[in-house]
Amino acid sequence: MRSIGLLALTVSLSEFAFAYNHGHRDIYHDHSVNLRKRNIRYDGQIEDSYDFVIVGGGTAGLAIAARLTEDSNTTVLVLEAGDTGDAVADRINTPVMAYYSGLPGTSYDWAYTTVTQPNAGGRNLPWPRGKVLGGSSAMNGMYHIRPSKLEVDAWSSLIGSDKWKWDSMFETMKESETFTPPSSDIQAEAGIQFVASSRGTNGPVHATYPGFTLPVVGNWTQTLGNIGVAVNDDAYNGDTYGAFIATSSINPSNWTRSYARSAYIDSLPLRANLAILPNATVTRIIFDSSNSNNLTATGVEWAAYSGAAKQTVSVKKEVILAGGAVGSPHVLMLSGVGPKDVLQAAGVAVQVDLPGVGQHLQDHISTAVTFKTTTDTAASLHAAGQNSPAFLSFINSATAYVNITDLLGDFAPDFKTQVASQLSTSLVPSTDATVVKGYETIYNTTLNTFLTSPVGQVEILLALTNSGTDSNVLQIQAALQHPFSQGRVYITSNDPFAQPAIDPQYLSHNADTVILREGLKLARKIAGTAPLSAVIGDEVTPGPSVSTDDDWDSWLAKNIGTEFHPSCSCAMLPLEQGGVVDENLKVYGLGNVRVADASVFPVSFAAHLQAPTYGLAEQAAKIIRATYNGVGWPSASGNSTSTSTSSSSSASPTQNRQEDHNGALSLSSSSALALAAAGFLGSLLL
Ligand SMILES: *[C@@H]1O[C@H](CO)[C@@H](O)[C@H](O)[C@H]1NC(C)=O
Ligand SMILES: *[C@@H]1O[C@H](CO)[C@@H](O)[C@H](O)[C@H]1NC(C)=O
Ligand SMILES: *[C@@H]1O[C@H](CO)[C@@H](O)[C@H](O)[C@H]1NC(C)=O
Ligand SMILES: *[C@@H]1O[C@H](CO)[C@@H](O)[C@H](O)[C@H]1NC(C)=O
Ligand SMILES: *[C@@H]1O[C@H](CO)[C@@H](O)[C@H](O)[C@H]1NC(C)=O
Ligand SMILES: *[C@@H]1O[C@H](CO)[C@@H](O)[C@H](O)[C@H]1NC(C)=O
Ligand SMILES: *[C@@H]1O[C@H](CO)[C@@H](O)[C@H](O)[C@H]1NC(C)=O
Ligand SMILES: *[C@@H]1O[C@H](CO)[C@@H](O)[C@H](O)[C@H]1NC(C)=O
Repeated sequence: MRSIGLLALTVSLSEFAFAYNHGHRDIYHDHSVNLRKRNIRYDGQIEDSYDFVIVGGGTAGLAIAARLTEDSNTTVLVLEAGDTGDAVADRINTPVMAYYSGLPGTSYDWAYTTVTQPNAGGRNLPWPRGKVLGGSSAMNGMYHIRPSKLEVDAWSSLIGSDKWKWDSMFETMKESETFTPPSSDIQAEAGIQFVASSRGTNGPVHATYPGFTLPVVGNWTQTLGNIGVAVNDDAYNGDTYGAFIATSSINPSNWTRSYARSAYIDSLPLRANLAILPNATVTRIIFDSSNSNNLTATGVEWAAYSGAAKQTVSVKKEVILAGGAVGSPHVLMLSGVGPKDVLQAAGVAVQVDLPGVGQHLQDHISTAVTFKTTTDTAASLHAAGQNSPAFLSFINSATAYVNITDLLGDFAPDFKTQVASQLSTSLVPSTDATVVKGYETIYNTTLNTFLTSPVGQVEILLALTNSGTDSNVLQIQAALQHPFSQGRVYITSNDPFAQPAIDPQYLSHNADTVILREGLKLARKIAGTAPLSAVIGDEVTPGPSVSTDDDWDSWLAKNIGTEFHPSCSCAMLPLEQGGVVDENLKVYGLGNVRVADASVFPVSFAAHLQAPTYGLAEQAAKIIRATYNGVGWPSASGNSTSTSTSSSSSASPTQNRQEDHNGALSLSSSSALALAAAGFLGSLLL
């Protein structure tokens, strides 16, 4: 959210430092935990070759690594550019830190900036992305929200594959999580509604509600209901629209952030077949170019830092790119796989001219209306010194995905007609015919399947964590979910340590301005509606001087920023539509390279991206294990069937699963109890 102060290091830091120095037992320096037994290679030692090399130890990469190494005969190396995060464990683990002193702006942030955005006030906008084990799941706002069935099924039909239908993603998103209901007090105070059967029961990532809430949160759904927005009592079952209190990726046993590392890796015992190497920036994939129509990756090159000696590791089966919407297309282009003109201009030898790499980039943009408030906010209580573990788990969770009639009323059909007439290939940042076709395909899906459907066009969020000078304010944020503007990521240098150029082409299509403006007007209307209105004071920003549509349009252009949800830059589309990967996540033209992260979604979802990214990662692991190890492919009914797409594969579905599968990856409540018994929980957060 925009309210995460990118540069905000507040007074609270010293407060926390004090707290942690006086009683926090640091597990990473605890002699009872033998670091050598962990799968993270603190000593830098790795083998010469692995079956799979995963590029990026982030949200998707660590999930895939954990699942693939359930097969004891499969070896996996994860190369992560960032450090372990151990030195900032408290800032990662304590949920509230995401707002007051998280990782954005530190060395654990890639800290990208966009190229100048002419339609967004001529600004170069910050794009934080996690550069640490766990990736952006280590520094995000922890919203755990799923896309809608309509959106996932649209993706599935764009690629013509059941593997990406809602039914499949619903299963894998459930497999990735363990849901814990709120206490009855929290449920009543925050007005939480949920249906437990829509949620996972045994997965690595914890999804629950913070251990502390505020009466104003309990005003949320009722206020939205009073202006005609549907209130959703089951937002995790394929209908992610209307107003609800979202779950967050928090472990309720000790109120810590549940992210890719803590969920999928730290819970594992030593696996001799898994190595995770931090501080390893991948500089390129190495190919055997003897078959130029089907290049085979034979290794991966990396370096510890710019100027350090390049090192290589051999790959026996596949390279799996999981660097995210910026990192994955960046590595492909550095390796000579991408648009020929871009590669040549940057001085990279072309291996495969693949015009779609980096194209079709989409992002959610957001900004907020800020009000004085007379009620307690998390920020005001925080400033007043509240610091119980439950309080420190408070993060924002009141949300609403509002549809086009919520925004435009009776004008919605006319608006759709207008947008239909505004399909213009002059807005495509490529002249390649396949990329243009992909742009049109995505545009037409956004228009015909999403725009006048029940799915959200704008996400509206209540932010109670303003970390600026005045903590007695609250914000109602609005974020565009289905942009008509598409941009691109491209390289301008063959130096792997130079940032790629990021051009989301924000607001290049005028429909985005109209939809977001109407979302901001709705935010103002929400503040004026009971019961919320009872605690709302003067509007601080933008204030009464902004009232006409023109006022809003020029104000929002100068104030929007990323909602931190870039996707679609290695889109899963047919090759003739500028696609980068096929239904099995394999890069066109390469024999043994896949991309498995949010860059492959071909359309922007009305959702925060971590939950669908975990679902995608779980599905990627199933595809890969079915290909090589005869581990069963689940049928649509959820039953396991043995597949043999590889000639060498003849094992029974479960024969080669490692013993530690269930115990290791699910939350072991006995270990939580053991920690509590040792007084660990009590000392952790105070
Ligand atoms: C990674 O590099 C940083 C900076 O050089 C260093 O402080 C840190 O110890 C390294 N981490 C590991 C796991 O080697
Ligand atoms: C709305 O919030 C106020 C305090 O901010 C609280 O007194 C009231 O109970 C809340 N209303 C509902 C319906 O939860
Ligand atoms: C998108 O829709 C427009 C208008 O209906 C049509 O002319 C165009 O061919 C469509 N493009 C694709 C790729 O479907
Ligand atoms: C949008 O949601 C409202 C209720 O919030 C509903 O009445 C309306 O039909 C929905 N619009 C569309 C296009 O589905
Ligand atoms: C392409 O190469 C991969 C190995 O890199 C191999 O498994 C696959 O069968 C090859 N495909 C074709 C069509 O030759
Ligand atoms: C799937 O499993 C269920 C329960 O185990 C069983 O009743 C059903 O017949 C199975 N379906 C298929 C197609 O095997
Ligand atoms: C793992 O074991 C299975 C079953 O024995 C076999 O099919 C597969 O080829 C093995 N994979 C590796 C990487 O050796
Ligand atoms: C929180 O508890 C889980 C067990 O439920 C444990 O794995 C994790 O290490 C704990 N987090 C911290 C920071 O101690």
